[in-house]
Amino acid sequence: MAKDRVYIFDTTLRDGEQVPGCQLNTIEKIEVAKALEELGVDVIEAGFPISSPGDFNSVIEISKAVTEPVICALTRAVKKDIEVAAESLKFAKRGRIHTGIGTSYYHIYHKLNSTPEEIIQRGAEAVRYAKSFVEDVEFYAEDAGRSDNKYLAQVVEAMIDAGATVINIPDTTGYTLPDEYGKKIKYLADHVSNIDKAILSTHCHNDLGMATANTMSGIINGARQVEVTINGIGERAGNTSLEEVVMIMKSRKHLNLTSNINPRKIYSTSRLVSTLMRMPVQPNKAIVGRNAFAHSSGIHQDGVLKRRENYEIINPKTVGITESSILLTARSGRAALKHRLGKLGYTFSKNALDKIYEDFVVLADSKKEIVDEDLKILAGAKERDIKRNLHLDKLQVLCGKGTSPVATVSIIWEGEIHTATSQGNGPVDASINAVKMILNKKVRIEEFLIQAITRGSDDMGKVHMQVENKSVLYYGFSASTDIVTASVEAFIDAMSQIV
Ligand code: KIV
Ligand code: ZN
Repeated sequence: MAKDRVYIFDTTLRDGEQVPGCQLNTIEKIEVAKALEELGVDVIEAGFPISSPGDFNSVIEISKAVTEPVICALTRAVKKDIEVAAESLKFAKRGRIHTGIGTSYYHIYHKLNSTPEEIIQRGAEAVRYAKSFVEDVEFYAEDAGRSDNKYLAQVVEAMIDAGATVINIPDTTGYTLPDEYGKKIKYLADHVSNIDKAILSTHCHNDLGMATANTMSGIINGARQVEVTINGIGERAGNTSLEEVVMIMKSRKHLNLTSNINPRKIYSTSRLVSTLMRMPVQPNKAIVGRNAFAHSSGIHQDGVLKRRENYEIINPKTVGITESSILLTARSGRAALKHRLGKLGYTFSKNALDKIYEDFVVLADSKKEIVDEDLKILAGAKERDIKRNLHLDKLQVLCGKGTSPVATVSIIWEGEIHTATSQGNGPVDASINAVKMILNKKVRIEEFLIQAITRGSDDMGKVHMQVENKSVLYYGFSASTDIVTASVEAFIDAMSQIV
């Protein structure tokens, strides 16, 4: 059975752009519009031309730059708005005027100071006037979510009679429940006598977190156009997000719905909009959030590595994300660590992996997330450590302002534990003096470099050291979140080549 096509009306550049601080200049809007065209949206709502010369100009420039989607301009049910919108669409290959008026009790009496009859008359006049400029006219019944269904059916019938071919039923305040919104769409589909001449459109806001659920309920009950934004941006809590609706339709095949969207462009479009609008995407945002395909618990990581579908309903590649990420944290297991080390080119025996895992857990406890740089250091240090006959067993240091630093160090040297205590001008000096006492060697530190690996006070410090013995230089290296420990281990690393 052929799938039912749902038209994607993107309002990122109109409703989305109404977010405070997210305004784009014309060049940026053109960049977004081109990305939306590549994504495959059917309609781009490019602006509200009467609202500002900038918006007017943007609709003109987008109409010139983008040719595939219909370009839509928003108006109130006001003649001047419609004239300006028509003028802004003069270069559009296919232009649409989106006009409308409030139909709820609040809007009729407390915003427009009007009556239900007059609203129908004003709406129909606006539709007819818009129709005198363009063939494609969409009507919105503002606050339809809180409008009486019987009255709404009368409004819709009159607007279709006046020439509207798309009827938008906005849940302007994000108030309706999915079941109510679906019933509203079905009521209109069943009670408006000329509904076969128009497409019903959803336009849901997310004030109660139900925008996507309401939109889906609208589609299931007969709507065939959805008004959405990238990343769900928009007034207040935002609009329905394009990526969610598209991926629901794609994932739940029994709905038998399809759209023209190329899902592989979803992630790049999301990043573009987020960057240009300076509006970060929340990490747990469905489909495009940083954590949408990230697995952090050991059980989930093991499950995903065995078979992706165990914990993923969407292949991240489908939406243009190269792969699911296995976040290495203190909750990760050996399977995830082995997998990531493998990707970095390291293979270890089971015993060696167990040892790296011990260090990994200690490090992960003191650092929120382990990145590849940390792993390279851990793996590299372990490779060197495995080959050595000298290892640091314990280190205890007393230091701080007003105390003279003292360190007690225990070293395993050819299988035996040796301990010494020493003083110094700082914690590193005291510790290294203790190591020197144990090893009884006269050496000189030629170079000593401590560097943070990434950033943050929980970061690992890496230490490079050059130790001179009988005119020969020996190189030592280590890394730890404890820089005194890292310094002593780097010294031991160098000394292991001397003793
Ligand atoms: O939310 C709304 O009602 C709107 C209309 C102007 C379409 O954005
Ligand atoms: Zn809206």
